[in-house]
Parts: sequence; structure tokens; C-alpha cells
Amino acid sequence: MPPALEEAGTLVVGASQAGVQLAASLRQLGDTAPITLVGAETHPPYQRPPLSKEFLAGTATQDGLAFRNTSYYADHDIELVCGERVVDVALPAGNRPGLARTSSGRELPFARLALTVGARPRRLDVPGADLDGILYLRDLDDAVALRDRLTDASRVVVVGGGFIGLEAAAAARAQGKDVVVVEAADRLVGRAVAPVVSDFLRQAHERRGSTVLLSTGVVGFRGTDGRVDGVLLADGRALPADLVMVGIGVVPRTELAEQLGLECDGGIVVDAHARTSAPSVVAAGDCTVLPHPLTGEGRVRLESVPSAVAQATLAAATLVGREATTRSVPWFWSNQGDLKLQIAGLSTGFDEHVVRGDPDTESFSVLYYRSGALLAVDAVNAPADYLAVRKALTQEIALPAEAVADAGTPLKTLLTAPTA
Ligand code: APR
Repeated sequence: MPPALEEAGTLVVGASQAGVQLAASLRQLGDTAPITLVGAETHPPYQRPPLSKEFLAGTATQDGLAFRNTSYYADHDIELVCGERVVDVALPAGNRPGLARTSSGRELPFARLALTVGARPRRLDVPGADLDGILYLRDLDDAVALRDRLTDASRVVVVGGGFIGLEAAAAARAQGKDVVVVEAADRLVGRAVAPVVSDFLRQAHERRGSTVLLSTGVVGFRGTDGRVDGVLLADGRALPADLVMVGIGVVPRTELAEQLGLECDGGIVVDAHARTSAPSVVAAGDCTVLPHPLTGEGRVRLESVPSAVAQATLAAATLVGREATTRSVPWFWSNQGDLKLQIAGLSTGFDEHVVRGDPDTESFSVLYYRSGALLAVDAVNAPADYLAVRKALTQEIALPAEAVADAGTPLKTLLTAPTA
């Protein structure tokens, strides 16, 4: 017999950064109703960002990735269900609780539903894509496989010059591998940074001995005995490879939301309170598209851990009927070997930018503006600039373009008056 609606609690589908935060926030807010946190992976929840960085480089261990100690979930009365993928879900109706069913047939009743289901790596659909030795990187099992394969590989081709591809390329190159990065677009990390930073990254990776091919398509893979040995390019060339890492972006998991008839548009559509188009369902993290966090205009999808955490906190407040509005400045980071890129704000739509410092020194920052208003910073090995801009954006303090150009003037000394 399923419990009555009032006895059923919250079901959080997806046990990664957003899901864990949402469950923890519910308890912090004093919610005493049952919480079930269900995740498809067999591992207890762990941090993903180090997978393509410290873990691949061999400086972080699997144990070091766990979010909380193992007793956290039991101590906080959170039922953690690992290794079960929810495949069907129906919302509560009348006094009947909602019901989710996992691929093993397990039934999970709920009164309130949170979708924190994340995104899956986009697959490269070309002939030979199933050959052994072509790997993706999103979860711990992927990272373990990639790290193992990297040990014996000598020629590594990375398809996709975004954050994941460049982080993996840096790790492989640092281990002395022959590395070629193949990027379809005419610049690296085009989704997240401006051309001046893309150019810098290309040069910096090349300085470290990697080869970067821009505007280059992959049309297939060549193999021997089922194992990849070459990458076929659109211009007719073939790159020798004994390991291929594909990092060509992610696709939000919207299947359950679509099944429930929730509005989806390149992600599960949520409002500023993390509420989906069904009032009883919230969603948070990489699976969502949300109003621009600073302007409220248009929808964005933020593939960012800090944003997932902020959004999950709001989602928990919404579920307990205490809608909160917090202005949270998105921030991101990417460690590519010794290159530390930090981003605060969103530069999309900028009409002016100022470069502080000389990119050739590998320590500089770029500040972006639209109609004179500060939008974002990309900082490379320049943490003080990153922190100052993040503070300016958070506290809505003006940092005029004409004042920031002199790299000798620390930005923090310019942080004085609020804009509003
Ligand atoms: N061949 C080569 N390059 C391609 C292809 C292709 N067929 N298709 C896409 N690309 C390129 C894109 O032009 C882009 O530069 O792959 C890159 C993908 O970059 P991202 O969109 O940043 O995605 P990815 O690097 O895979 O990262 C996925 O993990 O760490 C997080 O923040 C990161 O959330 C992001 C996610």
C-alpha cells in the first residue's frame, strides 16, 4: 500500500551536486518529512569538477571526491538510493501520492518532486564511434576508465576544445602524451569565453606541446581489431590515435519532465524560484533553463556547480513554501594544468571589453561591458581580478571600463560606490 499523500515526502531524482544540496537544504530549513534521494550511479554522491582535473592528473583519489561523510545521509534522515534510475513518474492526484518507478521496478512514492537529473555527454555520431578506445568524460566510471587508458596511451586525440576537452588535453600532455585537440568551431571554448581568451588558450596549449586544430570536422574513426587507431578528418587527413577523448558538450536530461508534460526548451524550464511549469515540481542544476540570474531577461542554461548549488537552495525553499529570491552571480572555473581560468558573470552580449595585463605573460584578465555596464570577467591566473569583479557584480558596484585598463591598479582599490 502506498502511503497517504500527507505521509509521503519529497523525492529528489538525481543524486549529484544539485540533488544533494536540495536534500541538505530541506533539512536545514527544518523540513521533517521523509526525503528520498535517488541516483542512477552506484557510487555515493561525489564531486564531478575534479574528475577532469585533479583526478585525471592523479592528484585526487576516488575517496577524496565524496561530498559528505558516509553517515551524513542516515544522520539527517535522508534515504539515499544509489544505482537506481527512475524511468517512469506520475504526479500526485487527489489524495494519492505521486509515484516514481525505477528500472529495477522499485516504486518510490512522493508528495513533492524535485528533478536534479543533470545532463549527459553529447555523443559523436560518425562511423566507427563505437570502437574501443573512444571515451567520454562525465561521471566517475568514465574518469576511472580514461585515467587507466591514459597510462598506456601514447597518441591522444581530444575531440572538442571546450572545458572538458582542454582539461583532459592538459592532463594527457602533462603525462608526456602526444596530444591533438580537434575543434569544429573557429576558436576554443566558444560557448563560454570571448575570442581574446580563446586565442590565448590555443597559444598556451600549443606552447605546452599540444597541437590544436580549429575549424576541423571529424567524419569517422578507423580501427584495427575493434580498437581505434585513427581519427578521420573532414579534410581527408587521418590522425593516428590510440586513445580518443570526446568532449563535445552535454544534453540536458529532460525525459522525465517531458513525460510529466512540463515545459522544456533546451532544458527543463524553471522560474527564478526553481519552479517548473507544474507548481508542485521543482528542478535544479544542469537539466534546467532559467531566467538570466542577473538581468532576469531571457533564459540561460548554466553548466556551473555554484549555480546548481544556489538554485537547489532556492528549490528547497520553494518546496517548503518559503520562496526566496537571491541574486547570485554565476561563476565558473577551469584548471587546465597550470592554467587557472576563473569566470564571474556572463559575458554574452558584450559590446566592449578591456584586457588587463598581457596574455603572453599567462596572467591577465578580460572585463566585459554592455552599454557601459559591467557584465563579466575571464581571469587567467589572475585571482585578485576575478574576486574583485565577482564582488562588484554581487554588490552592484560600478567598475567603469575607463578605470580598469591599468593592470598596475588593483581592482579592489576601485571598488567603492554602489551603482544603484
Ligand atoms: N567536433 C569537434 N568539436 C566539436 C564538435 C565536433 N563534432 N561538436 C562540438 N564541438 C566543440 C564545440 O564547438 C565546443 O568548443 O566541442 C566543444 C564543447 O565544449 P562545451 O560545450 O564547453 O562542453 P564540454 O567541454 O564537453 O563540457 C561539458 O562539463 O565541465 C563541464 O562546464 C563544462 O558543463 C560543461 C560540461
